[in-house]
Amino acid sequence: MNEVPRDDSLDASVAFLREGYTFVSSRCDRLGSDLFRTRLMLTPVVCMRGAEAAGIFYEGQRFTRVGAMPPTVLRLLQDIGSVQTLDDAPHHHRKGMFLAMMSPPALQRMVEQFRAAWLAAVPLWGERQIVLQDEVSAMLALAGAAWAGVPLDPDEAPPLTRQLVAMIEQTGTIGPANWWAHHLRNQAERHWRGAIRSIRSGETAVAEGSAADLIARHRDLDGELLDETTAAVELLNVLRPTVAVARFVTFAALALHHHPQWREKFAQGGDELLRPFVQEVRRFYPFFPVIGGRARHDFAWQGHEFSKGDWVLLDLYGTNHDGRLWPEPETFRPERFVDWPGDPNTLVPQGAGDFATGHRCPGEWLTIALLEEAVRLLTRTIRYEVPAQDLTVALDQLPALPKSGFIMQKTQLLAA
Ligand code: HEM
Repeated sequence: MNEVPRDDSLDASVAFLREGYTFVSSRCDRLGSDLFRTRLMLTPVVCMRGAEAAGIFYEGQRFTRVGAMPPTVLRLLQDIGSVQTLDDAPHHHRKGMFLAMMSPPALQRMVEQFRAAWLAAVPLWGERQIVLQDEVSAMLALAGAAWAGVPLDPDEAPPLTRQLVAMIEQTGTIGPANWWAHHLRNQAERHWRGAIRSIRSGETAVAEGSAADLIARHRDLDGELLDETTAAVELLNVLRPTVAVARFVTFAALALHHHPQWREKFAQGGDELLRPFVQEVRRFYPFFPVIGGRARHDFAWQGHEFSKGDWVLLDLYGTNHDGRLWPEPETFRPERFVDWPGDPNTLVPQGAGDFATGHRCPGEWLTIALLEEAVRLLTRTIRYEVPAQDLTVALDQLPALPKSGFIMQKTQLLAA
């Protein structure tokens, strides 16, 4: 068996935090290998990148997410008992519940909710400066909750939105900011447990087939309803990432700003190029840097032995920027997606492999539909100015965003 190259530092945790999104790929380049060993948080870990690595990681049930993420991250994102922590038949069964939320008519309903929230919010901006990231987060919280069957009343919308945003923003932090996000997460779980209770008792009516309805009625393979906490966790697993799509919307606005020829194209139609544009936004801009897994059994890949329990990180950002898959990966070029064959292991911002049997994101179609709508809204419903601001996207900030959050001013709604 070959020796997996080793990063020579004793522990690379500080380097990981300092380098962020490029940590794995810069070492792969330096060591001339798609995988290497190092230590993070004093624990041995194998890091890997590329399409073949994504297939190994996501297909064939080789990895579990249990024990694969620091608890500070797990609790803010998917949480204990969630679909992500399940494997095999229990996972496929629970995953079916999420996939049932994503029918084309359901996606269309969410797009309409988002459009309605946008058209209601924009007239309130007027001349003043707004931060697009904050505005779109609030819109997606309102729209997502209504779509999921649990509309927010106006008083509770701001605190509930803050809770959802904090869970996403603070995943990369440690210390007080992270503790505060956990406090907000606990508040959110309390609120959504109450919502599940009220739906089950018949006190609150929910639209049939909505996310809240599917979750409240879902029975696991043992025939039992989800306990209230797990049901609340899964409802949050719909609401939180729906708000997180705001980050991609902000990146789409940044791309339109840096590449005004695309703004022109979409202002005049060009619907057939929306998908390639949105795919390039998802490829080019940073979101999750890596995903962690623990090997479920012994296996070999590229001549290297993995043992049951080994901790592995798959580089999502590095795979999306792998020059073997994406020529000139640091150039924003939507045309690359015009004839893209759609290999499931090459464009991996939301995971790789199969939706139903692996951990690939069930919200990917919803994300794409919302982003396409966001590009239409940004280019066809409003005119705006982008004042001088710091639009730097720092790759050592997890999760990344343009520094200013994308400030707009003098926004005018165009006649329909
Ligand atoms: C903002 C855009 C999004 C990004 C970048 C994203 C990213 C991801 C990634 C990388 C995974 C794979 C995790 C793993 O391999 O363990 C994942 C899983 C998941 N995502 Fe998303 N996601 C997004 C939007 C959504 C949306 C809109 C929803 C639901 C409405 C959603 C719900 C989930 C769920 C439930 C899982 C767990 C799936 C499983 O374990 O089988 N995500 N997401």
